[in-house]
Amino acid sequence: MEKKTFSSMILLTASIAALAGLLFGYDTGVISGAILFIKDQFQLSATAQESVVSAVLLGAIFGAAFSGGLADRYGRRNIIIVTAVMFAAGAVGAALSPTIGLIVLFRLIIGMAIGIASYTAPLYISEISPPEARGALVSLNQLMITIGIVVSYLVDYALAAGENAWRWMFGFGAVPAMILILGMIALSESPRWLLSRDREKDAREALKRILKNKDIEKEIAEIRKSLAKKTGSWREVALPWVRPALIVGIVMAFFQQATGINTIIYYAPTIFEFAGFESHKVAILATVGVGTVNVFMTLVAIWLIDRLGRKPLLYAGLIGMAISLSVVGWSFHTGATSDAMKILTVASIVGYVASFAISLGPIFWLIIAEIYPLEIRGRAMSMATLANWGFNMLVASTFLTLIDVLGKAAVFWLYAVVCVAGIIFTFMFVPETKGISLEKIESYLKSGKPFRLLGEKS
Ligand code: BGC
Repeated sequence: MEKKTFSSMILLTASIAALAGLLFGYDTGVISGAILFIKDQFQLSATAQESVVSAVLLGAIFGAAFSGGLADRYGRRNIIIVTAVMFAAGAVGAALSPTIGLIVLFRLIIGMAIGIASYTAPLYISEISPPEARGALVSLNQLMITIGIVVSYLVDYALAAGENAWRWMFGFGAVPAMILILGMIALSESPRWLLSRDREKDAREALKRILKNKDIEKEIAEIRKSLAKKTGSWREVALPWVRPALIVGIVMAFFQQATGINTIIYYAPTIFEFAGFESHKVAILATVGVGTVNVFMTLVAIWLIDRLGRKPLLYAGLIGMAISLSVVGWSFHTGATSDAMKILTVASIVGYVASFAISLGPIFWLIIAEIYPLEIRGRAMSMATLANWGFNMLVASTFLTLIDVLGKAAVFWLYAVVCVAGIIFTFMFVPETKGISLEKIESYLKSGKPFRLLGEKS
C-alpha cells in the first residue's frame, strides 16, 4: 500500500464537507426533544405532531428525488453551498416561526437540504480522496452524522427546562450551517467534476491544492481516460452496464434502513421503556449512551475500513446485528423485566448499534460514492439516496403499528431476518472497492465482469 500520499489539506477539505453530515444528524435527531414543547405550546393533535416530525423525512425524499442532475450539472461544491444556505435559513426560520404551518414549512426546507447533502457530501469527499484513504475520509461524513445525533440529544436534554426551548433547539443548527457555507466557499471544486466539464486548468489548480507528492499529470490522464465517451444524462443511468451498480446502491439502501436502525435512533427511549425502565430520565440517559457508542464505533470503522475492506466489515456488522436483534426479540418474548433481563436488553441494543456503526452505517454512503461512473455519479447517487430516505420513512412510520399488530418480539426478529438476507446479498452482489481508484472501478463495471468479483484476488 502506498504510504501517506494525502495532505493535511485533504483531511481539512473532507472535514469541512462532512459538516453536512453533522447537520444531517443534528436536524434528524433534534425533533425528538423539540416536539414535546411544540406539542404543548401549539396544542397539537397526534396527526399534527406527526406532520411536524415527518416533515424532515418528506423533505429529504423530495430533495433526493429532484436534485439528481444538479450535482452533475452545476458541480459538487456549488450544490453543497446551496444546501448549507438552506440549512441555515431553515434553522433560523424554524426557530422564529410564529405558527405551526411555518414550522412545518421550514422543517421541510431543512429536510430537502438533508436529502441533497446526504449524498453530495460523500460524493465530493470521495472525488478528492486518494484510493488508499477514501474509505476513512468519506466515512468522516458518517462520523459527523453520529456526532450530530448525540449533540441533538444533549441539546434537547440541556434545554429541556427552558422557556421557548424548542426555538433554541432548532436555531442552534444555524451555527454549523454558517461554518459549512464559509468553509465550502474557501475550498476548491472536485477536480474530477471539473475535468468532466472540460475545465482542465481549474482541475489542475484544484489538484495542486489537495495533492502532495503525487504526479498531477498522471492523475489527470487517468481521469480523462475514464471520460472518453461522455454523455452524462439520465439515459446513461439506464445503460445495462450501469445496472449492477444501481442494484447494489438501491438494495443496500433497503438493507441500511430495513434492518431497523432508526427504530432505535428515533424511538430509543420508548424501547427502553418497553424493556421495563420506568423513569424518562434513565431512558433518555440510556439513549445518549447508545448515541455515544454509535460515534465511538464509527471511529473504529474509520480505522478499519481501508485496512480490512468494506465486505469483511459488512459481514461482521450484519452478523452482530442479526444476533443482537434476535436477543432483543427473545427478551421481549419472555416478557421478563428483572434487572438481569433489562441489562441484557440494553446490552443487545448497544451491540446492535455498535454492529451497525462498523458496517451498514458508513459503508452504504461510502459504496454509493464509489461505484458509479463519473458522468452520472450525482444522478445515480441521488437514486440510491432517494431509496434510502423512502425506506427510512417506511420503517419509521410502520414501527409502532407493527408492534401493535405483530408484537414486540416478532418485529425485532423480522429485522433480524432482514440482516440475514443482507449477508446473502453482500456475498452475491456487493463488490470490494478497498484501495481501487474510482476510474478502475468504473472501467471494471464497464467490462461487464461480475461486479461482486471486483477487488477479489484472482
Ligand atoms: C443512516 C441514518 C441513521 C444514521 C445513524 C446513517 O447512515 O442513513 O438513517 O439514522 O446512520 O447513525
